[in-house]
Amino acid sequence: MAYETLIVEVENHVALIKLNRPEALNALNSVLLSELAQALKIAEKNDKVRCIVLTGSEKAFAAGADIKEMADKTFVEMFSSDFFGAECKSLLANRKPVIAAVAGYALGGGCELAMMCDFIIAADTAKFGQPEINLGVIAGMGGSQRLTRFVGKSKSMDMHLTGRFMDAEEAERSGLVSRLVPAKKLMEEAMSAAQKIAEKSLLATKAAKEAVDRSYETTLSEGLLFERRLFHSLFATEDQKEGMAAFQEKREAQFRDK
Ligand code: CAA
Repeated sequence: MAYETLIVEVENHVALIKLNRPEALNALNSVLLSELAQALKIAEKNDKVRCIVLTGSEKAFAAGADIKEMADKTFVEMFSSDFFGAECKSLLANRKPVIAAVAGYALGGGCELAMMCDFIIAADTAKFGQPEINLGVIAGMGGSQRLTRFVGKSKSMDMHLTGRFMDAEEAERSGLVSRLVPAKKLMEEAMSAAQKIAEKSLLATKAAKEAVDRSYETTLSEGLLFERRLFHSLFATEDQKEGMAAFQEKREAQFRDK
């Protein structure tokens, strides 16, 4: 499938989705957001795909929502269309794991898009920020909620109120990113993480993703019960029998997603 704003490749069970609007530092306009939702849906439905990597360019993962496209909109237009609402829901509906591989700017909606992925691997050139305050607005794709959960209230307030950028080292120190690598190694690291995930049982992978995501939505006791019941349910799968047999027989497990 050909896209105007994305490059998509599927190799070795990994779908690599590259944001491709170099003239606008991958700013998220409506075409890009709708193509991204479509590409993610296709990857989710494709049985050959077991993990997804989302990336941008060396200079920018994405420099935010497209300011030029939004500038003249009215409140009524934004509210009536629930601007960003459908796109965010559709991005989050994906049940396969999605890794964000971030180099360069991840600002505003770009930072928010990275945070909507399951985890973030950052190049040492990455810069994260929620600079919407400089435009007379605030984050609109989850920044005030997600960044706060990642890095805590003080740092999140600092970022949202001053609009300052956080470099990759600070992002790793603060728990925003899971790994920090030299820029040259970014794609190798992200693809190798994706490959590792692709080798697991997709049933267990989806259960793990649901369980971790649930921790953001519920109380500890409900979350623990949810996790335990998912754990129990995996004993109905062939992959659990295979995984535990392979351990005892000292061989690699051959998962079949059954
Ligand atoms: N929207 C539209 N176009 C953008 C853009 C954006 N978010 N970010 C960059 N561009 C465009 C620039 O306008 C420029 O295009 P022209 O050459 O046609 O003018 C091109 O990309 C290159 O950008 P710069 O010349 O500005 O590059 P730079 O290296 O000097 O600066 C930058 C890089 C610091 C990232 C700067 O571009 C910048 O500050 N961008 C805006 C960042 C921002 O405010 N993001 C938040 C957007 S609002 C939002 O995201 C709301 C939300 O929560 C959903």
